[in-house]
Order: sequence, then structure tokens, then C-alpha cells
Amino acid sequence: MSSLNYDDVAGDYHRRYAQSPMPGVARALNEAAAAVGAGRVLEVGCGTGRWLEALQASERWLAGLDPSRGMLLQARPRLPRVPLIQAVGEALPLAPASFDFIYLVHVLHHLTDPRRFFLAARRALAPGGAIAVVGANPVAAGSAWYIYDYFPAVREMDEARYPAWEQVRAWMTEAGFGQISSRVVHVVDVTFVGEEVFGDAFLAKNATSQLAMLSDEAYEAGMGRMRAAVAAAPLTLFHTHLEMVMMVGTGAVL
Ligand SMILES: C[S@@+](CC[C@H](N)C(=O)[O-])C[C@H]1O[C@@H](n2cnc3c(N)ncnc32)[C@H](O)[C@@H]1O
Repeated sequence: MSSLNYDDVAGDYHRRYAQSPMPGVARALNEAAAAVGAGRVLEVGCGTGRWLEALQASERWLAGLDPSRGMLLQARPRLPRVPLIQAVGEALPLAPASFDFIYLVHVLHHLTDPRRFFLAARRALAPGGAIAVVGANPVAAGSAWYIYDYFPAVREMDEARYPAWEQVRAWMTEAGFGQISSRVVHVVDVTFVGEEVFGDAFLAKNATSQLAMLSDEAYEAGMGRMRAAVAAAPLTLFHTHLEMVMMVGTGAVL
């Protein structure tokens, strides 16, 4: 297993949204930004720009930040007028109180120092501003992801990376966020039957950090197990059930 450089997966990453655009996430982010009347909006870990694109509105000034130059280069044509900054979330290069709404989607498990990130985000938010953390925890009770059945190393890796939502709430509280609430904003619930699964965009080697972090040999071994399962039982079911949660907090207490 290797660590992931998003530059290596940038060219393939956005394909996931053709299969699953996750409209509930876009709706929820727009609602959360509108709830605080956000004029200045920052996405941390903006990747290829899927959510910034969905948040564009005449009354908002948007910016994106990501450490991967490759991901930012993919975002650029989608967001020709949006400033895109190459940086990590733990060291936000921002003036105090410079944004009204800061959000991140599927990024928290990549942060090496989430406490530092939440403190930095708290400082960068203007009074009355809000933060939103969106993500799915694939190892939480109630989640299902067939990938774990065929690539056992991936589950082990995710158990080490994904914080429980209660932990996220504790970090936010510690950083001074208040009025913390959470809700499910989108559910991915899909079952592929037999051969169909090989068309799943999330099964490609570079579609998710999970599979991208496997060695080529480990990836091929898992694919071999899936092919053997389908050969033995052509109606094998491959099920995914993932709840996307949005946790919101305001910067109003301190
Ligand atoms: C799963 S992708 C999500 C991209 C985008 N938010 C989306 O939902 O499509 C994770 C992103 O987090 C970025 N990332 C990794 N480490 C980070 C860090 N320390 N701070 C901010 N972003 C980071 C990666 O470069 C990558 O673009």
C-alpha cells in the first residue's frame, strides 16, 4: 500500500460525477451558505471543482484551495473566474474573518491534523459565518460497500482514516464552533448484478483514494476475486449503501 498523491488520479477523478452527481450534496451546501447569507465562500480540498461549480451565484465570491496542482488544473476550466489556491487545510493562508462560509467535501479523512484545521477555519470565518463538513463514513455502522469484501486491506485502511462523526463534533466544539448540527444530505444506494459491477466508475483504480492507494498487485488480486465470484455465480450482488452527512457549525461562540 502506498500514500496517495492526488496529482496521479486527477485525470480520472471527475468521472465519478457522471455516474453519481450527488445532487443532495449540492442542495445542502447551497442551503447552508444561504442560511448565513454567505457572500465569501471557500472550499477546502476543492479537487476538480464539482461543488464550487454548484455554488456559483451572482451574490457570492468563491475561492477554492487544494494541495494538489493536478486537481486544481482539472478544476480550472470549470471555474475560469474562481481563485484557486494550492495549499493544505491545516495551514490556511487566509486573513482573519475573511470568509462567511467554509466547507469541505470528502476531505476530512485526508487531513493529517484536523484539530489544527478547525482552529484555522474558525479564525478565517467572519462573525456569523459557518463551516460545513460533508462526507460519508464507509466504515460506520449501517454503511455497506462491496469493495471491502474483495479488497480487505481497504477496510483496514479506512478504519484507521475515517473519524467518527462524534469525534468531528468534538474537534469543532474544541475549536470554538457552536450550534453544531448534522443531517443526512444524500444517500448512495446501488446494487450491481454480476458483470454490471465492472462498469462501476468507483471501481476504477484511480477513482477513489481507497483503490488508488493499493499497489497494482493488490488491486489486480481484488479484481481477480471479483471476476472469480461472478464466474462462479453470475448473479452475484455487489451492494453499496453510503450516507453523505453534512455537519454544520457556526463561528458565533468564543
Ligand atoms: C476525495 S477528494 C475530494 C475533492 C472534492 N472536494 C470533491 O468532493 O470532489 C479529496 C481532496 O482533498 C485534497 N486534500 C488532501 N489533503 C488535503 C489537505 N491536507 N488539505 C486540503 N485538501 C486536501 C486532495 O488533494 C483532493 O483533491
